[in-house]
Amino acid sequence: LGPDRATEIRALIRDVPGYPHDPIVFRDITPLLADGAALRDVVEAFARLCEGDDGHAIDIVAGMEARGFLLGAPLATRLGVGFVPLRKAGKLPPPVERVDYDLEYGSAAIELRTGTLPQGARVLLVDDVLATGGTAAAAAELVERCDGKVVATAFLLELDGLGGRERLSGRVVETLLRVD
Ligand code: PRP
Ligand code: ADE
Repeated sequence: LGPDRATEIRALIRDVPGYPHDPIVFRDITPLLADGAALRDVVEAFARLCEGDDGHAIDIVAGMEARGFLLGAPLATRLGVGFVPLRKAGKLPPPVERVDYDLEYGSAAIELRTGTLPQGARVLLVDDVLATGGTAAAAAELVERCDGKVVATAFLLELDGLGGRERLSGRVVETLLRVD
């Protein structure tokens, strides 16, 4: 995203103070998702991270439930690769691997069925928001337990000051927008 387009797209993310509880400022991407040109440009910006000689060579996109599905699946379609949903616990039939984690405003668990990923698959993890990094670290652990290799992680919006990038240290972290 160029700087002007980044500013326009940032304006389509609604800041909601006090949701789901104080002192969280919730970053709501639904206005962006409802804007066709913005959604296209975001997906295109993600796709460019995976193209060209210096792009990440990936075999498959994985997205974290639920908002990671909304960006990851169209990205996979655009790149012509498959998509793997990392689901909140209890949604996938067994046998599954499970990783429990904390995020900015709670805790959760995600699951993936062993055998879903081809052995050694080069995976791009995609989500809307990087806050504490708890979700992304859990997702990366889950993919690796299921025989995938996390080549890079990619987020629409990085929330500065919550330690997400540090939590993912040693991993490639790509973000399209950042806010304090
Ligand atoms: C949100 C967001 C990320 C995660 C980021 O998901 O979509 O997955 O929190 O927070 P963290 O960096 O502190 O882990 P949420 O669990 O609210 O689920 P949703 O996508 O179903 O709304
Ligand atoms: N996930 C974690 N923190 C968040 C926030 N502040 N807004 C939206 N999604 C989030």
